[in-house]
Amino acid sequence: MTMELNGKRVVLGITGGIAAYKAAELVRLLVRQGAEVQVAMTEGAGHFVTATTFQALSGRPVFTDQWDARMPNAMAHIDLSRQADLILVAPASADFLARVAHGLADDLLATMVLARDCPLMVAPAMNRQMWENPATRRNVAQLAADGVGILGPASGEQACGEIGAGRMLEPEELLEAVLAFFTPKLLAGKNVLLTAGPTFEAVDPVRGITNLSSGRMGYALARAAQQAGAEVTLVSGPVALATPAGVTRVDVRSALDMQAAVMAKAGAADIFIAVAAVADYRVANAAEHKLKKDLGGVPPIELVENPDILAGVAALENGPFCVGFAAESQNLEAYAQAKRQKKQVPLIVGNLIQDGFGGDDNRLVLFDDNGVHPLPPASKSVLARQLIEHIATLTGAN
Ligand code: C5P
Repeated sequence: MTMELNGKRVVLGITGGIAAYKAAELVRLLVRQGAEVQVAMTEGAGHFVTATTFQALSGRPVFTDQWDARMPNAMAHIDLSRQADLILVAPASADFLARVAHGLADDLLATMVLARDCPLMVAPAMNRQMWENPATRRNVAQLAADGVGILGPASGEQACGEIGAGRMLEPEELLEAVLAFFTPKLLAGKNVLLTAGPTFEAVDPVRGITNLSSGRMGYALARAAQQAGAEVTLVSGPVALATPAGVTRVDVRSALDMQAAVMAKAGAADIFIAVAAVADYRVANAAEHKLKKDLGGVPPIELVENPDILAGVAALENGPFCVGFAAESQNLEAYAQAKRQKKQVPLIVGNLIQDGFGGDDNRLVLFDDNGVHPLPPASKSVLARQLIEHIATLTGAN
């Protein structure tokens, strides 16, 4: 298990709202990533969840009271916020947003927020009418203008039975926002184009040729590039994965569709990362109607070679910096180096299929003009972050 938030100190503020129960899961996710989480609750939060829950999950005493006698200098509001890299308030009630927008310091959490010298993010959660109320609109606009990160809210079914905007983002989405916050913006202002997943080459309207690529490595890279500050377009073959936050996704099926989508965007890209497992061949004589078994004999399937999308982009004049993948089952170095030559790309990322296909972990070896750089085995998200750092260095982006 890799800890992407090792050594990061997060104050998690919890205010009064039914979404407070989800903050328990958020603490677990943050702690699992290595963050030190200090929980501070408002009195209202205590009507929904208990301090004991959060003390157990965070491994630290929870603070609720400005006059808490546990702080030797009686300055919990200063001490707790000074130790933080980030204050995240989730859920943030309408009342709390109003108080922060007006600089009130009428309880411990509001005082810590006013006294902070680190960034503040809030995850609003409230009834949709409260969210849409002009007073809340004004307060949120003020907070945004003051540089506060506003995370969500999402739309959907609410605890009160109504449907609309005001649901707190899910704990996993809040974790992503925290991870993005702590990621150095090495690719700020860069346009990154990626391909990911398999392609599907039709045999007839219901059948086709495809492969076992899960798309996970490509999606992890799209997410890491986005969190590093890039504008990211992800051209994706058919996969069962959620689009990473802030990434523009273009869905395609066949290699030819993928090529068209890539070529339409390649001119504007600074970096192109080809992770897709593109089918080498497509069916030349794909049937318009479903092939029937009783026609006699085995259907003749004629294959033609697909275009090499990566080589095509690498050949563009003033094209993007190109990165290719070499998924091999043996002779990784020889095949990867040959691919680098053949496709004329500055960086090839090699991985042995048995190490990574379909799973969450992987083992990568980078081949570039400076030599061979093996990365220690890790989760795809950690490897993606390291690869983005390597690309940023090679392109002089940082
Ligand atoms: O030639 P091979 O498929 O082994 O090369 C793999 C690399 O080339 C990957 O980066 C893959 O995304 C890319 N590729 C491509 N178009 C193809 C075949 C591979 O972009 N038709």
